[in-house]
Amino acid sequence: MPEGPIDHHDYPLEDFDEVNFPRPERTEFDVLAERAMSRRTFLGGSVAGLTAFALCTSSLTSVAQAASRLAFDPVAANDLDDITVPKGYSWHILGRWGDPLWSKGAEFDHATRGTAASQAMAMGDNTDGMALFDHNGRSIMAQNNEYVNRSIIYGNRESKLPENADDVRKGKAGHGISIFEVMQKDGKWSIVKDSAYNRRITADSRMEITGPAAGHDLLKTAADSTGTKSLGTWNNCGNGRTPWGTYLTCEENFNGYFSSSDKKFAIPAELKRYGIKHDDWGYAWATDDERFDVSKHPNEPNRAGYIVEIDPTDPKSTPKKRTALGRFRHENAELVVAANGHVVVYMGDDERGEFLYRFVSDDMMTAGGDNSNLLENGKLYVAKFHDGGKGEWLELSPATTGMTSQAEISVHTRQAGSAVGATTMDRPEWVAANPTKPEVYCCLTNNKNRGKKPNAGGDATPVGGPNPRAGNKYGQIVRWRPLGGDHTVDKFEWDLYVVAGNPQVHTDDRRGSANVTADNMFNSPDGLAFDTKGLLWIQTDGNYSNAKDFEGQGNNQMLVGDPETGEIKRFLVGPKECEITGITWSADLRTLFVGVQHPGEKGNSHWPGGGDTAPRSAILAISRDDGGAIG
Ligand code: FEO
Ligand code: CA
Ligand code: CA
Repeated sequence: MPEGPIDHHDYPLEDFDEVNFPRPERTEFDVLAERAMSRRTFLGGSVAGLTAFALCTSSLTSVAQAASRLAFDPVAANDLDDITVPKGYSWHILGRWGDPLWSKGAEFDHATRGTAASQAMAMGDNTDGMALFDHNGRSIMAQNNEYVNRSIIYGNRESKLPENADDVRKGKAGHGISIFEVMQKDGKWSIVKDSAYNRRITADSRMEITGPAAGHDLLKTAADSTGTKSLGTWNNCGNGRTPWGTYLTCEENFNGYFSSSDKKFAIPAELKRYGIKHDDWGYAWATDDERFDVSKHPNEPNRAGYIVEIDPTDPKSTPKKRTALGRFRHENAELVVAANGHVVVYMGDDERGEFLYRFVSDDMMTAGGDNSNLLENGKLYVAKFHDGGKGEWLELSPATTGMTSQAEISVHTRQAGSAVGATTMDRPEWVAANPTKPEVYCCLTNNKNRGKKPNAGGDATPVGGPNPRAGNKYGQIVRWRPLGGDHTVDKFEWDLYVVAGNPQVHTDDRRGSANVTADNMFNSPDGLAFDTKGLLWIQTDGNYSNAKDFEGQGNNQMLVGDPETGEIKRFLVGPKECEITGITWSADLRTLFVGVQHPGEKGNSHWPGGGDTAPRSAILAISRDDGGAIG
């Protein structure tokens, strides 16, 4: 988004539903919902979930009566190895994995897929969260490179895995963040090679650790006895941005890079909660860099799993790990400035049965002041959803958790959430705040364990509330409205904006909510962002088999939703075996940048080059043929 979300107080909370969800007629769902509400419980407590179905049903009626704000012809689901956008829109590629950011870097080599040296000079792999910054009239893109596909980046190797030290270093350099200036000429966007702003941040870049956990024993290692400096950031998933012009990158599946050379090493429970195992996920980083060997350096994993703040306009600045925002598998970081000036950051922990968090800064934003350390200190909260559409934020402090210090809570944040009885969620992915009113949305992407298995901390995952379906295959989007429209207040009301499903295959709750039809259906919502008009862009990372439960849903895609009416339309379909993730706009809103991640992750795509080229993740630049704004 061109600006961080802003806080508005258009309506008192009690009027919210009335204003936004006019109910022109009673539907069968309304009757069911009212009955359920009158009992205050339904099927183990999915009152608000059921109400959400009702809202969507009545909303559809109002859609038919009001002009749609989604002014494009939706695209049909498909399984092409191509990009599909609506009639009247065009796309081109801004940059791809392996495109050099400096003229001395080598062009991408499809045969070798590059070397450690060429990768260090080029855009990283698997584009994810991103933000475009307008700085002194220049456009600077900050882009997460979440991970590398072993079978693609090592496609030149028999084993499809790293086979020597250079391969391992190539993989490390494919991770992190790419920062580069972009410009538009004759309607086409491209990377400005050799710009003074261009920078690669990788798994080996210097980081500073700030906030409550800085200097704590849990963060001290052989390489850094102070517990305040670490090397690298990796598995950077979604993102955020601040009103003071910095980029927030979110360390997600940091665990998969650690391994143990001693297979008898007893992995501590604190590390197990975060998924650390004896074996890594095939990256082999410990073979070239001992700090990834947990039997030798058991505190190293404690230095990953944070929100990292980066100044994209100063290539010499040191990124700061903000421990006050907690340590977990961070998806993204949605920042809102509350009316009282406190900075509020909403964050999901993307694992089955993990939690949703809120940070509230101790200090307040000051116009024209130095706001650069607002994320250093604040209170951290975790969400508890109650039946009946109510919820609250529970503070994570030594008093509430029984833990010894805020530093420990900042490192063992999941354990803190378990201690206060937070609600186990269906994998919270991106959070997005509506810039036109005080409401916040979060994708709960799917959860095959719902109602079947506890989370990694042993917390039960009962069916109900915002997680209404056992073995949830399709996902849903929950939204909440802070009481009184104040993002710093601890109480909220919630409902479900959409429950994804397949009405072509199922007639039970797997069909989805009433705003899901055979024409717009999808599964596994993941990326999420609002545009300036208050329309919700939904990106998917789901099952693209186009068969059985997912028949008719095609490749991963991007849709647009109208929060006022519940209407959802499909805007884009990606190439085979990709995920659509990451979204940002040009300053004039005439270009929408969208990420295409891991095309051909199972070996069945040659997008974008075609022929027998290696598939490459890429950023799309999408515009309207009439030159109008998108969003
Ligand atoms: Fe990196 Fe949860 O997606
Ligand atoms: Ca994601
Ligand atoms: Ca996902």
